[in-house]
Parts: sequence; structure tokens; C-alpha cells
Amino acid sequence: MTTDDSGITVVARLSTVQISHVRVLAAYCEERDGYSMEARLDLGTLETRPEGSVGDVLWYESGHVVGFAGMNSYGDPSEVEASILVHPKFRRMGMGRAMARVVVRECQKGGIRRLLFVVPQESREGAEFARTMGTQHSHSEYTMDLDVTRIPPFETIHDPVELRPAGAEDVPIMAAIVASAFAGPVQEEEQALVCLMKDTTRTTYLATQDGRPVGVIQSAVSDGRAFIVHFAVRPDMQGQGIGRQMLMAIVHGLLNGGGKWITIEVETENANALSLYQRCGFVMVSATNYELRELPRIPKVPELLFGS
Ligand SMILES: CC(C)(COP(=O)(O)OP(=O)(O)OC[C@H]1O[C@@H](n2cnc3c(N)ncnc32)[C@H](O)[C@@H]1OP(=O)(O)O)[C@@H](O)C(=O)NCCC(=O)NCCS
Repeated sequence: MTTDDSGITVVARLSTVQISHVRVLAAYCEERDGYSMEARLDLGTLETRPEGSVGDVLWYESGHVVGFAGMNSYGDPSEVEASILVHPKFRRMGMGRAMARVVVRECQKGGIRRLLFVVPQESREGAEFARTMGTQHSHSEYTMDLDVTRIPPFETIHDPVELRPAGAEDVPIMAAIVASAFAGPVQEEEQALVCLMKDTTRTTYLATQDGRPVGVIQSAVSDGRAFIVHFAVRPDMQGQGIGRQMLMAIVHGLLNGGGKWITIEVETENANALSLYQRCGFVMVSATNYELRELPRIPKVPELLFGS
């Protein structure tokens, strides 16, 4: 933990007490701003994440947390999401800017190349603030919650898809499926999956049809809420109802396990996924913009002295 004169503290992993302080701050902000930062802060993940990632930033005044920057990383080791929050009474005093500077410094120390500022679409000041921090719009996502009254009735299926918890031996095929579905590099996806599967709050499932691997889906339980993430169907098997079966299977599994609050996030441009989630009973609750600041790599001392 490091603290500087301005009251800023950087912590490798938040303690339970610090999490409770951040919750108090989030509640003050919600009261003033009229929207919740809960899902965006993803505090459950911050509390359990392994040390070694980029630290979170806390700003203390008289023993109270009045500013916070939560740093979340979801598999890609070169990318981090920052959710910044300043107590309403302390806004427009340069605290957000000062914390963003610390965030950038910590990211550069950690070798992060892509810093995404998480900006709720409801936030009047967030968009302006992000622009001031030199960001460019990356993408937007809807957060959707399951409304159990909208779950479609059970259907008999001729060629059922099965979900089974995945193990380390399934990583190569799962990485190939996810990479092909998102047109990304397989090797990075393998690394991301290995990292995400170490997280005990997550369960990864491999979907098979007639014994053939066809899809991947994960649940991540955090703070009493289950997020459905890392959802992909092999491109040549899409459009055949496999995704719908996978989604309904994981939803029923979570509900049977006592889950009450199930959330999924989807890029606003992904019309197919959006309509699938709506048909499965999910309703839109908020929208978030991701504003990107690309970070130059800091050259290491030997490179500075002798060239790369
Ligand atoms: C966005 C937020 C973190 C800014 O924190 P802050 O401490 O008030 O910001 P700063 O005082 O450091 O402002 C830095 C710059 O951001 C811009 N900015 C901040 N608030 C603004 C507002 N209400 N209107 C217009 N521009 C604003 C300005 O350019 C400002 O520089 P200036 O004061 O020299 O003009 C704070 O308003 C907040 O917690 N909002 C709710 C959560 C949120 O939207 N988070 C997203 C963060 S990316």
C-alpha cells in the first residue's frame, strides 16, 4: 500500500473494510446522481482478485473515502477498466484528474497498453471528464438483468446441447471457439482463459452437441449477483438455437442454485446477441460507454541506455 500527501492510497487488493468505505461513497453518489455504479464497480471481483494486477486508488479525507478508482481486468493482461467516482461534495476540485494521473502511472508500471474509462451513459460529467483525460470512444454496452417472469416456456429439443464444467484440458478448444467467434488471436484467448479459470468465483462451461464442442459460457458470481460472461458459439454453428440453449441452461442452473440476480452485458452494436438475451427474459437496465486511452510503453532503463 502506498499513500501520498494528497490523501491518495494505492492498494494491491481492497480489504473488506475498504470495500465497505467504497460502498458508502457509491451510495452518496447514487443518491446525488440518480443511478447506480454497483455493476460497473464490480466490487466483489476487486475484493477477490489476485495481487499483482494494477492497484485500486482510494482518496481519504478525515478517515472517509471521498474518491475511488476501481481497476478491473478481465483476462486480457494488457487492458484495464477504470471506474472513477468522486463524492458529490468534492467534485470539480481536481480530484478525479489527480486520481486519473495515478491510474495512468500505475497502468504504465504494470505494462498496461489500453486503459478504458468506464462512463455511465447517465453521467452528465463523466463524458466531459473522460474527454479531458485524452480518451477516444471505444464501444458501449448495455447491462441487462434477468426478469424471471419473462423466461420463455420450456421447449422440447431434438438435438440438445449439454453444458459441462470445463477443465484445463479444455482450454485449447475453448480458446479456439472464443477466438473464432470474436475474430481475436487464439494465443491471447488461451492466456485469458487460463487466468479467468483460476478465479474461484467463476465457473466455465464447455457446451457440446452430439459430443462435439460447440460453445463456451462462464458464470461469475460477485456480490450476490451472477454475471454471465465469455459467451461464444462456434461461428459455423451459429443461428441454430445453440446459444439460446446454452443461455437457458446456465440461467436455470443459477436459479436452481439459489441465484436471484442474473446479469449479462452486451455491446450495443451486437443486435443478434441483444435480441437473443431479450427473448430469453433479460431486460435492459443501463448503458455504459467505454472511453479508451492508449498508453505508450515506458522504455526500460537498458533500452534507454543502449537502444532496444
Ligand atoms: C466524473 C468524475 C469522476 C469527475 O471527478 P471530479 O473530481 O469532479 O473531476 P475534476 O475536478 O478532476 O475535473 C477534471 C476535468 O473534467 C471535466 N469535468 C469534470 N466535471 C465536469 C462537469 N460537471 N462538467 C463539465 N466538465 C467537467 C473538466 O474538464 C474538468 O477540468 P476543469 O475543472 O479544469 O474544467 C465525477 O464527476 C464523478 O464521480 N461522477 C460520477 C461517476 C462517473 O461519471 N464516473 C466516470 C468517470 S470516467
